[in-house]
Amino acid sequence: MNPWTLLYEGYDPASEGLREALCTLGNGVFATRGATPEGALRTPGTYAAGCYDRLDSVVAGRTVTNEDMVNLPDWLPFTCATPGSDWFAPEREELLDYRQELDMREGVLHRLVRWRDREGRITSLRQRRLVSMADPRLAALATTVTAENWSGPLRVRSALDGTVTNSGVARYRELRGDHLTGQESGEEDDLVWLTARTRASGITVALAARLDGGPRGRRVSQEPAWIADERTIDIAQGVPVTTAKVAALITSRHHAVHDPLTAAWRAVRLAPGFGTLLEAHRAAWKRLWERTGIELDDPELAQIVHLHIFHLLQTLSPHTADLDVGVPARGLHGEAYRGHVFWDEVFVLPWLDLRLPEVALGLLRYRWRRLPEARAAARAAGLEGALFPWQSASDGREQTQTFHLNPASGRWLPDHSHLQRHVGLAIAYNVWHHYLATGELPGFAAELLIEIARCFASLARLEPDSGRYEIHGVMGPDEYHTGAPGLDNNAYTNVMTVWLLMRAREVAEMTPDLGVSAEELTRWEDITRRMRVDFHDGVISQFTGYAELPELDWERYRGVRRLDRAMEADGDDVNHYRASKQADVLMLFYLLTAEELLAILRRLGYPAEPGLIPRTVHYYLERTSHGSTLSAVVHSWVLSRSDRAASWRFFVEALAGDIKDVQDGTTAEGIHLGAMGGTLDLLQRCYAGIEPERDGIRLNPLVPDRLGRIRLPILHRGTWLAVTAKDGHATCRPLA
Ligand code: BGC
Repeated sequence: MNPWTLLYEGYDPASEGLREALCTLGNGVFATRGATPEGALRTPGTYAAGCYDRLDSVVAGRTVTNEDMVNLPDWLPFTCATPGSDWFAPEREELLDYRQELDMREGVLHRLVRWRDREGRITSLRQRRLVSMADPRLAALATTVTAENWSGPLRVRSALDGTVTNSGVARYRELRGDHLTGQESGEEDDLVWLTARTRASGITVALAARLDGGPRGRRVSQEPAWIADERTIDIAQGVPVTTAKVAALITSRHHAVHDPLTAAWRAVRLAPGFGTLLEAHRAAWKRLWERTGIELDDPELAQIVHLHIFHLLQTLSPHTADLDVGVPARGLHGEAYRGHVFWDEVFVLPWLDLRLPEVALGLLRYRWRRLPEARAAARAAGLEGALFPWQSASDGREQTQTFHLNPASGRWLPDHSHLQRHVGLAIAYNVWHHYLATGELPGFAAELLIEIARCFASLARLEPDSGRYEIHGVMGPDEYHTGAPGLDNNAYTNVMTVWLLMRAREVAEMTPDLGVSAEELTRWEDITRRMRVDFHDGVISQFTGYAELPELDWERYRGVRRLDRAMEADGDDVNHYRASKQADVLMLFYLLTAEELLAILRRLGYPAEPGLIPRTVHYYLERTSHGSTLSAVVHSWVLSRSDRAASWRFFVEALAGDIKDVQDGTTAEGIHLGAMGGTLDLLQRCYAGIEPERDGIRLNPLVPDRLGRIRLPILHRGTWLAVTAKDGHATCRPLA
């Protein structure tokens, strides 16, 4: 087993969607799904970071507005035809060999196809595809054709397709996906080009492509939204011939561009041939792997870890650092969740902080640039500071849908998930972690944390009955409990608010020019001593009233991950039971050390003995359906010291999330970036125990036996270190 490749043998239309998502190639600016370049059974997808568009659709008698990450014109189409045959399409031909291999070390997707046409001609086709990590405007597809038992003319067709729509997610199909309009195409010297505009956001996208390798007799066929460059290659039996399509994708959001079309032309014209492009691309990946690699002894585990690093870097690369984009929950790999940005960055940024801090900073700046909208949202909700949306996209307004389709019942249902105010806590946590990891707290990041603190401080109201501060009407990370709508005193939100206000007081002291008033500081201090947290049965209650809920009949729903959907289809409501979709209270043990958490509870005047933590972990573990890939990451983490075998099982499940598509077919709609980042952070901060602290870095490893040794480089406050961890030991030395 090669830990650097993902290999698929055979052509299987039914699993193409999964393959396409896992074989996506990208550079942090744009990404293209690993769809076949030809045929009808493909779900092409090319997405540029931050390129969104809003459309109104009428569903279930209501008008809903959705902002989608737009599926951009497809640069990939390429096919060929043996004499007298139709254009090659894998679903139609007699395939003799079919093999697809993703080389993660080099960022190249290889494909080998051999087929026999109706006249008995056997042809083989070897393709190499890249989306350049060296020049983030470029992509290329090199095709080497060998006629095994014939000679003669082979026609090739290379096209640009502007007819694509957002149609990659079945349950969104009632919603409009025709984001592209105004398509135009043309030829210019040896190039073909295509432009389109997004309907509402008015982003212009331009593609240009050239075909290298000397095919003769160029014929261009053209419709406004589609253009193809057709040529003929004379091939002799047994002599391989290579043609390469070199394409550029530019949008009006790119830097250093006059107009996208001219920029795309120039980028393609100035681009070198495939060989040189490949060399530069490989070198860029080599540099990246040197900073980000994690070495494990077991090749199977190493393969999945490489896959997670690979897809994370293809979504968030050094090129992303100066774009204005956030962390899309499903990568640039598919259309699920519409490319929106949730709280998943809390699983991603801590890993970036210790190797690509400039990228993490860029992602925090995405939030900072949306402070005006977050402030407006806070005002509209009667709050202070900045209220970040649960789902964010282009301008930082709330993008959470108000209705969603339950595919299990076919019903459109109200969606209250915008009440997950805790997204702000995740952003603030990331600001603080960035500070610990890098020693730097830029003014904008400090402002972000303070504005979020103001919002949560204003959410907390002193209740005369309990004599404590309470937060009402919110949802925690567990999306099964939406309340009516909203819950009171979600423990995760309340405790993290205390943590945040403690950090905010420190930040206010470090950056006095942020203008935090003495009254604010006093109130924050008071909240950190009098916030309400509920307990029942000797454990922390997920929210006020949780203890009154009946137990779920788990036998009946054994193995069902999405209880919300299954129970609604049965005419029931998971809200009414002690059942969670994912870690909620347990997120506290994920983000805070045991000492930090117990100290907060004691500060609040609650009896907090160490036994509280394992009891609470086991209590919720028995009542969670793991309907989110994030759940396994968190459970693996929180069990790592108390139940190492269970922690390992969850770790293996978290690793399997996308490669084995454990959430029933959802990976085809995009990878789960939070869970991918979470597994890497788990290796780094939990198992290898690398904990950035105020005065340096603490190594507190507890590596599972089955992992053997973990080796990884980290960048701590400007110094590269090589950390090796095994069992309870770790060494750390300057990186040569
Ligand atoms: C999870 C959220 C997550 C979102 C995007 C949902 O299924 O419940 O916690 O933020 O997916 O990944």
